[in-house]
Amino acid sequence: MVSVYDPGMSIHDQIVELIRSQDPEAASIVQAEADRQASTIELIASENHASEAVMHAGGTCMTNKYAEGYPGRRYYGGCEHHDAIERLAQDRAKEMFGCAYANVQPHSGAQANAAVFMALMEPGDTFCSLVLADGGHLSHGLPINFSGHYYKPVHYPLVRDEAGEGFEQIDYDAVREVCLEHKPKMLLCGYSAYPRVIDFAKFRAIADEVGALLMADVAHISGLIVGGQHPSPFPHAHVVTTTTHKSLRGPRGGLIMTNDEEISKKVNRALFPGMQGGPLMHIITAKAVAFGEALRPEYKQYQADVVTNAKALAESLTGRGYRITSGGTDNHLMLVDLTAKDPKGAEGDLTGKAAEKWLEDAGIICNKNGIPGDKRKPVVTSGIRLGTPATTTRGFGPDEMKTVAEFIDRVLSAGLEGEDALSRVTQQVRDEVRALCERFPLPGH
Ligand SMILES: Cc1ncc(COP(=O)(O)O)c(C=O)c1O
Repeated sequence: MVSVYDPGMSIHDQIVELIRSQDPEAASIVQAEADRQASTIELIASENHASEAVMHAGGTCMTNKYAEGYPGRRYYGGCEHHDAIERLAQDRAKEMFGCAYANVQPHSGAQANAAVFMALMEPGDTFCSLVLADGGHLSHGLPINFSGHYYKPVHYPLVRDEAGEGFEQIDYDAVREVCLEHKPKMLLCGYSAYPRVIDFAKFRAIADEVGALLMADVAHISGLIVGGQHPSPFPHAHVVTTTTHKSLRGPRGGLIMTNDEEISKKVNRALFPGMQGGPLMHIITAKAVAFGEALRPEYKQYQADVVTNAKALAESLTGRGYRITSGGTDNHLMLVDLTAKDPKGAEGDLTGKAAEKWLEDAGIICNKNGIPGDKRKPVVTSGIRLGTPATTTRGFGPDEMKTVAEFIDRVLSAGLEGEDALSRVTQQVRDEVRALCERFPLPGH
C-alpha cells in the first residue's frame, strides 16, 4: 500500500488521496460527492452532515470482525473490544433517551421496524398507522413492503376539515375510532413528513383502551428529542425505533429501545438471529461516537437552532406566497404546498417533481413530497419537503435561512415564467449558493 497524502490535508482529503493511490476511479467519485456536498445547500429533512469523528469512526478496523450475537454472548472469538464498543453505544443510547434497554445493531430504520414487527406480532396481525400519503413511512404498511405484505395495516388520517381545529394535524379522535373498530395489536406513531408535535401520552391512552402496544418510530425527530426540542416517547411508548443518521446526526443505521425487559428480549431475538447476521461493528463504533456527541451540552443548542431555522424558513416562504401545510412547523421540517404559488393551482406546472429538479440545478437539494390529500401521483406531487438539520450543522442561522427562502422563490418563480427566465435565474442563484456555501465550510471537508 502506497501513502501519497499530505499530512497537512484534512483527514477526509487524506483518505481520498489514499484511495486514489490504489483506485483513482473510486477516489474521483468520492471527491466529486465531497464537492457536491460542500457546494450545495442540503434541505432534505432526513439528511445531515456527520462530524469528522463520526464519519471516520465508521472507517476504522472495527469493520474487520464478525461479532454475531450480543456483548458477552458472541458466536466468534476475539470480540473483547467489539463487546466494549457495543456496550458503550448501548449505554449512551439509554442515557440519551432515559430508557432501560437499547439494541444498537439494526442496519437501518426499516430493519429496526421489521425487527419490532417480528418480535411483537404474528404474520396476519393488524396494526394501525397514519395514512402513508399523509406522511407515514413505507415500513408502516405499504402493500409491497414487508409491513403491508405480512401484516394487516389499518390507517388513521390527519384532520381534513380546513375550517376545523388542527387542520392537517393528527386526528386523535380518528385514531381512537379506527383502533376501537379494528382492535390492532400495535398502534404506530412517528412519521416521515409530519411538521408538528406528537402527543405520545394521547397515543398511549388510546393504545391502553384497545389493548394495543404503542410503537413510536421517532426516526425523524430523535435528535430533537435528545436535544430537548420535542417531548420524549418515554415513558409512553412500549417500544421506540429510530434511525441514527437524520436529525440525530450519527452514521447511517437504526436503533431500538424499550423499558420492558420482555420486549427487549423478544426484539433482540427477532433482530439476531431472526433477521440480521453479523452486526456492522464499524457503524456501531460510529454510533457510540455520535451518541457521545449528542450527550454534550452544545448538542441542545444545535437542536434548538434546527427548530429556530425551520421556523425562519417556513415564515419566509409563507411571506412569499407559499403555503406550509398545517400552517407552520414545530420541528425540523415543513411541507411546502406549491399549488398556492402557482396561478393555475393544482393544474399548473409547479409540481413537486419540477421544483425538485429546478432547485437542484441551482444547487438547492430537496425532495418532492405529497401534501395531505394530494391529487397528483407520488412521483409528481404538489409539494416539497424541506428540513434544517443539515444547514444548521453547517452554521446557517435565521438570516441565511431567509436567504435560502429567497433563492427558492427566485428559482420557482422563474420556472413559472418560462425556460429563458429559469435558465438565467438558475445560473445566478447557483453562483450565489456556491458563495454562501464557501462561507460555511462543512465539518471535515
Ligand atoms: C419515520 C421513518 N421510519 C423509518 C425510516 C427508514 O429508515 P432507513 O431508510 O434507514 O431504513 C424512515 C426513513 O426515511 C423514516 O422516515
